[in-house]
Amino acid sequence: MIGILCAMREELEPILKEVEIKEVIDYAKNKFYLAEFNGKSLVLAYSKIGKVNASLTATIMIEKFKAKKILFSGVAGAIDKDLRIGDLIIATKTVQHDIDLTVFGYEPGFIPESKVYFECDEELNRLARNVAKKLDIKLKEGIIASGDQFIHSKERKNWIKETFNASAIEMEGGAVGCVTSTLDVPFFMLRSISDTAEEGAGVDFDEFLEESSKVSAKFLIEMLKKM
Ligand code: ADE
Repeated sequence: MIGILCAMREELEPILKEVEIKEVIDYAKNKFYLAEFNGKSLVLAYSKIGKVNASLTATIMIEKFKAKKILFSGVAGAIDKDLRIGDLIIATKTVQHDIDLTVFGYEPGFIPESKVYFECDEELNRLARNVAKKLDIKLKEGIIASGDQFIHSKERKNWIKETFNASAIEMEGGAVGCVTSTLDVPFFMLRSISDTAEEGAGVDFDEFLEESSKVSAKFLIEMLKKM
């Protein structure tokens, strides 16, 4: 079973259109779609925005639906200057930028007995690279930072860049990374850029959410064809 996770309806819908839905299960005030694609069994859901919702949904996919991998598809704000709206990025690792226990002497993002960065699965990243190469699609890689804040300020964006060396910003990956790493499940994080995370990002996000979601979904489907 492969878990396909998104945060928002707009991110999941273009993926649902491509798969053969077998059953829809209502659970935990959400819908989990059991589907098939390319001979593979999938469980798909959108968690709703944010780290708590994404953690809950990832955990349910793993514990209840026995997902052996979690693949995330969605949109992100750009941090790196070379990222344009619609560009694709995969995470090498994810981090939670809004964890702050610095008053106790810990580095930003660190929780005692846990860690700052959660590694994404190298095998899935290699597959993504190969798919991108075959289809001649530009695919960037970098650290993706998450927090329960929509970033729309140059100042905060620059702080996240300097503190975590992040290339893109969203609101779920660090939490899903924590869940999958704790439960030893391979994790893949794919995002397409929807905005610059600077002043005016909210307007761009509204304008490009659907379009960029489709870019990410399309790439994910190409990857599933090779799995
Ligand atoms: N997802 C897409 N754009 C974002 C932003 N600017 N901040 C947080 N999450 C995002």
